[in-house]
Amino acid sequence: MIGRAALALSALILTAAVAAPWRWTLPAGVVAPVVPADNPMSAAKVALGRRLFYDADLSIDGTMSCASCHEQKHAFADGNTTRPGVHGDAGRRNVPGLANVAWLPVLTAADPRVTTLEAQAAIPIFGLTPVKMGMHGSDQEIPRRLSRDACYRRQFRAAFPDRRGRIDMSSVTLALASFERSMVSFDTPADRGNLSREASAGKAIFGRICASCHSGPNFTDGRFHAVLPVNKTDRGLAETTGQAEDDGRFRTSSLRNVAVTGPWFHDGSARTLGEAIARHPIRLNAADMDGLLAYLEALTDRGFIENPAFAYPDDPCGSK
Ligand code: HEC
Ligand code: HEC
Repeated sequence: MIGRAALALSALILTAAVAAPWRWTLPAGVVAPVVPADNPMSAAKVALGRRLFYDADLSIDGTMSCASCHEQKHAFADGNTTRPGVHGDAGRRNVPGLANVAWLPVLTAADPRVTTLEAQAAIPIFGLTPVKMGMHGSDQEIPRRLSRDACYRRQFRAAFPDRRGRIDMSSVTLALASFERSMVSFDTPADRGNLSREASAGKAIFGRICASCHSGPNFTDGRFHAVLPVNKTDRGLAETTGQAEDDGRFRTSSLRNVAVTGPWFHDGSARTLGEAIARHPIRLNAADMDGLLAYLEALTDRGFIENPAFAYPDDPCGSK
């Protein structure tokens, strides 16, 4: 009898642990992001996704992980204009930061078809324009590598009990997306209302002339606008729509942690934050500029950049 009761109890505890809802830690007024129905958040999936994000075995020659380009100290941007892939192909666009990507309705600078983190994750791994991690044509290579590792087998079983821990590219991208959704950043001097006089003045100017595009909690309307002159080597939105009027249109950048994600713009062509602001077709005087710079500096979340939960894992699986 006791044995059966204990069994029933442990089954109950197990179910509770698996079904435990993910707890978002969000400030008042911020609504939890939309999560795809087939990829509910769980602590085990986030933990697995973090290991995958930092694992260079996701690239063909084992030299490049997601984190090679998305570095925590730059709020998951990288400090370079562009970044070459494993075979040395030049990068095409500047690496964006990843703070609060869970809330972005459209991913990448100019492709409105990429609307989920699950779909996005396949682009650096398998993509050809440009080649980043170089896994095109080697669909089974990542599952094969991960399956050899007892640590990953354990983690996939914990993260995907519904799939009996199956290790395939679908579960890899589900886990990566879950980790990315956990990258929440809302603790800045601006969020806390802790602004200098200059930054407060900048905030007011920002509200008048910038917030029409840089709107909402992540300072982006998720829409496409032409700020820079059209460059024929990267036509932006027009590359997917084929419409001439979309030439040079790129998604409004999020400005969370913008002071540490430079260089700026989709092509990394702005060397300073002041230059990025000044190249918008908006007339500003020197005092406006000082205020805006002070305000944008106050959008930096030190706790996010230093949060150990997003850092290289203490107990990684796979390639170190
Ligand atoms: C070689 C450098 C490089 C590697 C490796 C890389 N990325 Fe990126 N990532 C970029 C660049 C460049 C962009 C911008 C692409 C664009 O806008 O067209 C980007 C964009 C993104 C975005 C979209 C962010 C936004 O604001 O829309 C996400 C999410 C992302 N990467 C996640 C990942 C994940 C997950 C991995 C690993 C599987 C990864 N990246 C590997 C360079 C890289
Ligand atoms: C018409 C819409 C619009 C307005 C108004 C606007 N921006 Fe932007 N902003 C954008 C778009 C679109 C981008 C991305 C352009 C690109 O990469 O080609 C951008 C990029 C930026 C960047 C670079 C971000 C990065 O990570 O690369 C900064 C900084 C910036 N804007 C600040 C401002 C400030 C400050 C104002 C007000 C003075 C402002 N913007 C007004 C649309 C706008």
